[in-house]
Amino acid sequence: MTETHPKVPMAGVALTAIGVAVIRAKESVRTDRLYDDPFAQLFVDAARDAYREVEGGLERWARLEEVADMFFEGRTVGVRLVDDRVAEAVEQGIRQIVLIGAGLDTRAFRLALPADIRVFEIDLPELFAFKEPILAAAHAKPRCDRAVLAIDLREDWAKLLREHGFRPDLPTHWVDEGVLGYLTHEHALHVVTTLTELSAPGSRFGVSRFAVDEDARPYAELERLVRGDEGADRPRTDLGADARTWLDEHGWHTEFHSWDDMVAALDRPVASGDPDIGVVMAVREA
Ligand SMILES: C[S@@+](CC[C@H](N)C(=O)[O-])C[C@H]1O[C@@H](n2cnc3c(N)ncnc32)[C@H](O)[C@@H]1O
Repeated sequence: MTETHPKVPMAGVALTAIGVAVIRAKESVRTDRLYDDPFAQLFVDAARDAYREVEGGLERWARLEEVADMFFEGRTVGVRLVDDRVAEAVEQGIRQIVLIGAGLDTRAFRLALPADIRVFEIDLPELFAFKEPILAAAHAKPRCDRAVLAIDLREDWAKLLREHGFRPDLPTHWVDEGVLGYLTHEHALHVVTTLTELSAPGSRFGVSRFAVDEDARPYAELERLVRGDEGADRPRTDLGADARTWLDEHGWHTEFHSWDDMVAALDRPVASGDPDIGVVMAVREA
């Protein structure tokens, strides 16, 4: 391994962030790209180099790329939809963005965000131990204020957020792009309860409603990569089907947007044909 990437996640949930970087790198070189993430390839190259150094690493890397490919079409469109939601929030005057389970996301660097925006990235310490040295080696400069919170979402991240200057009296745009699904229902609910308490009126949050067939090959392969073979017995996680009801009962105004409506303009073959798949979009009421 080189000095710029001393700790690459090779197992566990932080590894999933590398898979999404593989997806963003692949999207970024397309002529019809939906977004351009110039840092994704840096993360991918650094991770691949590190995997090469360990026994069985190349075979593991090949599996990681294979799984990323299986998820590519839907996931890459998802990145663009989140980009659009962030831009919309900024346009509406929101100045705080919190990415829970930020992974190797680089929106603070790659989106045209005004300088007075504050982006808070929350993820596990092992993730940032990989991410930050690579951004530093690339002399990457965020377009806005960026705070890195290396903490497990099962711990007291609200306190850390405040210590980093988060203002609960200002509206916030919260982004969950694939982390709640890695938490048990109890922990996911705790995260959403906490962010609800921190949300001033006008804050925004979205909860995806997917049809996840955990026995389908992409999900089964992802599980094995992240947790090893015992992962097959993992209990179902995230907020569950009643997320919208919970949000409605806790001071959020919700609207459901179907996936097929949201992707219609993007000219990619990702329609689900299922009107119940989509995102519950929530705005905090006064
Ligand atoms: C599928 S990745 C998505 C990353 C990023 N949102 C993206 O779209 O590229 C899930 C992320 O959740 C993070 N994560 C999982 N469990 C976590 C926890 N308990 N606390 C903090 N982060 C966690 C992982 O480290 C990983 O970066």
